[in-house]
Amino acid sequence: MAATAARKKHPKATPNSPRIGLYPGSFDPPTNGHLDIIRRATRVVNRLIVGVAINPGKDAMFTLEERIKIVEDEVRSINNGLAAKVEVRSLEGLLMHYARDVGAACIIRGLRAVTDFDYEFQMTGMNARIAPEIETVFLMASENHQFISSRLVKEVGILGGDISSFVSPRVARLLMKRIAERKAAKR
Ligand code: PNS
Repeated sequence: MAATAARKKHPKATPNSPRIGLYPGSFDPPTNGHLDIIRRATRVVNRLIVGVAINPGKDAMFTLEERIKIVEDEVRSINNGLAAKVEVRSLEGLLMHYARDVGAACIIRGLRAVTDFDYEFQMTGMNARIAPEIETVFLMASENHQFISSRLVKEVGILGGDISSFVSPRVARLLMKRIAERKAAKR
């Protein structure tokens, strides 16, 4: 019943309407893996909205505004005309309500190892119930990005490891600066 109502309220995209994809995430910080997904998603959709989630969890390194700015700068740095297709916005509230509001035809998610599957499976199932007219499309992480996660990048950085192959030089600089600031504040 709810699904029918939703379909009526949000008419299907026609072959001529631009296909909008929504790539949601915490991006705290964005990694090379995220950028790879953004790059590849633009081949699948005509327009990509990167939705930076308002509440990435308690251990967030960067504020929402910082994360939006960082993702924007990362997108702009990919110099192949991609930036024109991508818009970075804050993502507030329920993902699927937000997706409907922005007219997204699909949700884009990156899939790494099998460990991602359980979480993504649950989320996709729930999201499909909420908005069955919006598909979730998974892009398999590229081979060299399979293991990268924001959480582990932060952990490696905090423990003094080299993060330069996981994030861009700009993100590495910002993250190491933030880690140093936090350490100084604790002293
Ligand atoms: O990068 P992440 O942390 O894996 O992204 C998770 C995100 C932001 C996609 C997820 O937490 C989300 O969809 N948040 C919006 C709130 C929502 O709709 N929650 C219900 C999901 S079934």
